[in-house]
Amino acid sequence: MRSIVVLFFIISVSSVQGQTTQLPNYSCSENNASIQFTLSSSSHSALNSASNCSLQQCNTSLNGNNNCRSSSTPCFDYRTINNISYCAPGILCSILETCNNITQTCLSNNSVCVINSCCSSQAVCLPFLATQMCERGWFSTANMTNAREYHTASVLTDGKVLVTGGLGIGFIFLNSAELYDPSTGIWTVTGNMTNARYYHTASLLSDGKVLLAGGADISPLNSAELYDSSTGTWTTTLNMTGARYSHTASVLTNGKVLVTGGYNGNVGFFNSAQLYDPSTGTWTATGNMNNARVSHTASILPNGKVLVSGGADSSHIALNSAELYDPSTGTWATTGNMNNARRYHTGSVLSNGKVLVTGGYNGVSVLNSAELYDPSTGTWTTTSNMNNARDWHTVSVLSNGQVLVAGGYNGNSAELYDPSTSTWTNTNNMTNVRAYHTASILTSGLVFVTGGSDNNTGYLNSAELY
Ligand SMILES: *[C@@H]1O[C@H](CO)[C@@H](O)[C@H](O)[C@H]1NC(C)=O
Ligand SMILES: *[C@@H]1O[C@H](CO)[C@@H](O)[C@H](O)[C@H]1NC(C)=O
Ligand SMILES: *[C@@H]1O[C@H](CO)[C@@H](O)[C@H](O)[C@H]1NC(C)=O
Ligand SMILES: *[C@@H]1O[C@H](CO)[C@@H](O)[C@H](O)[C@H]1NC(C)=O
Ligand SMILES: *[C@@H]1O[C@H](CO)[C@@H](O)[C@H](O)[C@H]1NC(C)=O
Ligand SMILES: *[C@@H]1O[C@H](CO)[C@@H](O)[C@H](O)[C@H]1NC(C)=O
Ligand SMILES: *[C@@H]1O[C@H](CO)[C@@H](O)[C@H](O)[C@H]1NC(C)=O
Ligand SMILES: *[C@@H]1O[C@H](CO)[C@@H](O)[C@H](O)[C@H]1NC(C)=O
Ligand SMILES: *[C@@H]1O[C@H](CO)[C@@H](O)[C@H](O)[C@H]1NC(C)=O
Ligand SMILES: *[C@@H]1O[C@H](CO)[C@@H](O)[C@H](O)[C@H]1NC(C)=O
Ligand SMILES: *[C@@H]1O[C@H](CO)[C@@H](O)[C@H](O)[C@H]1NC(C)=O
Ligand SMILES: *[C@@H]1O[C@H](CO)[C@@H](O)[C@H](O)[C@H]1NC(C)=O
Repeated sequence: MRSIVVLFFIISVSSVQGQTTQLPNYSCSENNASIQFTLSSSSHSALNSASNCSLQQCNTSLNGNNNCRSSSTPCFDYRTINNISYCAPGILCSILETCNNITQTCLSNNSVCVINSCCSSQAVCLPFLATQMCERGWFSTANMTNAREYHTASVLTDGKVLVTGGLGIGFIFLNSAELYDPSTGIWTVTGNMTNARYYHTASLLSDGKVLLAGGADISPLNSAELYDSSTGTWTTTLNMTGARYSHTASVLTNGKVLVTGGYNGNVGFFNSAQLYDPSTGTWTATGNMNNARVSHTASILPNGKVLVSGGADSSHIALNSAELYDPSTGTWATTGNMNNARRYHTGSVLSNGKVLVTGGYNGVSVLNSAELYDPSTGTWTTTSNMNNARDWHTVSVLSNGQVLVAGGYNGNSAELYDPSTSTWTNTNNMTNVRAYHTASILTSGLVFVTGGSDNNTGYLNSAELY
């Protein structure tokens, strides 16, 4: 688990001021408005008791979007010329760009000009990225170029996030892909995919490439393609056997990709599974599941086996059954049944090795129930219900072991599951209502949510961080 511990984020005064010399008050003006900050030792900040400046430590006991995360990193209240507050850690002055001293703006669009930084009398540019270290709850980041739902998001080895395809405004099948750079908060368009597709899978291979498989445009697809982040381009690879969407794809510990189940309008529901070998670029059939399944889950257990749960079968009835794939034999074995039949649910491997299944739809209603699979006994036990019923939501296992569940089924609500107490607690609402979105864990540990749809405007281009 990587967390941002930024040792160089320490305020220093760029010129050493003698203890006896009073620092000048800082004032600057923009649009003919002038603000003067009084430099006083009583309100000084950040690890430099010798400097007189107006930085205050942020108030961490307030709720809301612009307050500091309670953390060991103290956060300070930086102000713009318009007295807008930004909380960020102390930052070494020498790494900060200075603001244009006439327009009070920053060359970089990812910074804001702050005038009370304790960095000499020159206003400096505070990177928005630094403010993320102090935010808590959900906060917006830049919009995608395309609004999309039923898309994919993959965190690449360089930390950028690749978003692909999906359905766009007007029920358009998207062939576009874009990259989000968490270090700048900027989206850039990358190469178009060879096929427009939605409801497909994306798998990060061990060589850093991303495999897209199946999905649909006007009809289900058997095609697959690879993204090379070093060139930003897509190349086709061999076709799967059977066009399918609403399948799963899991990267096994041996590097192969296991595709299971899915739906093909003409052929119906698949019980078949196949393996993609990145070293040869070929697909081979592996054992069939005991059940045909669509809108199921697949989770890689710590022992390398793959747990498949629920979904719907060819009679469109939600399943409570589950089965295990053994990569060493290429065979499936049934395991304990879930307590609830469900599809459009989630399945996540917790840090204790158990699998948490949440929500979904049983054919009659959307579920708030959750249950745990114990790989050592092959059994399911119910755990506390979520506060909200959800399907088409996202689940992210955080680095502290807690589990963040977000959105789905007409909501912007989010809640946290604590595996040690088996309890759910509500956390801040997302800024947008969304279902059919994606959630990825960035290398910083933040959760990054993109797109999806709400009930008002439909397809979303927005993205937010938690
Ligand atoms: C800080 O301000 C106080 C009061 O204005 C002054 O007595 C003190 O010398 C100043 N300290 C420095 C380092 O300038
Ligand atoms: C800074 O501003 C305060 C309050 O306006 C004033 O009392 C003080 O003399 C100023 N200091 C300098 C160095 O101008
Ligand atoms: C600033 O004030 C001057 C004179 O008062 C005026 O000519 C100018 O247009 C003003 N600038 C802005 C940006 O308001
Ligand atoms: C921080 O906010 C809380 C809640 O509004 C308030 O009670 C407290 O006085 C504030 N603390 C400071 C240092 O401003
Ligand atoms: C800036 O805002 C704070 C409250 O957030 C207020 O206490 C302070 O007086 C304001 N300063 C100026 C120069 O307007
Ligand atoms: C503004 O910046 C320019 C170049 O960066 C510098 O030469 C000039 O002295 C600065 N003016 C003030 C008032 O700081
Ligand atoms: C900042 O944004 C403006 C307008 O959106 C754009 O023209 C400019 O190229 C951007 N600058 C950088 C460094 O990204
Ligand atoms: C993002 O897109 C939404 C909807 O299209 C729009 O309302 C919002 O202003 C955009 N935000 C930014 C920062 O461009
Ligand atoms: C990508 O695809 C879109 C939509 O089909 C098209 O408008 C655009 O020109 C394509 N871009 C490139 C670089 O081929
Ligand atoms: C993949 O399947 C599509 C449609 O079924 C077909 O047009 C294409 O030629 C196939 N590609 C390969 C490499 O077999
Ligand atoms: C949209 O609203 C309908 C009726 O209120 C609800 O059944 C459905 O789940 C909602 N869908 C989403 C994605 O919010
Ligand atoms: C989240 O939003 C719902 C509905 O809009 C509202 O009832 C609830 O109080 C909000 N929760 C929080 C923690 O803000």
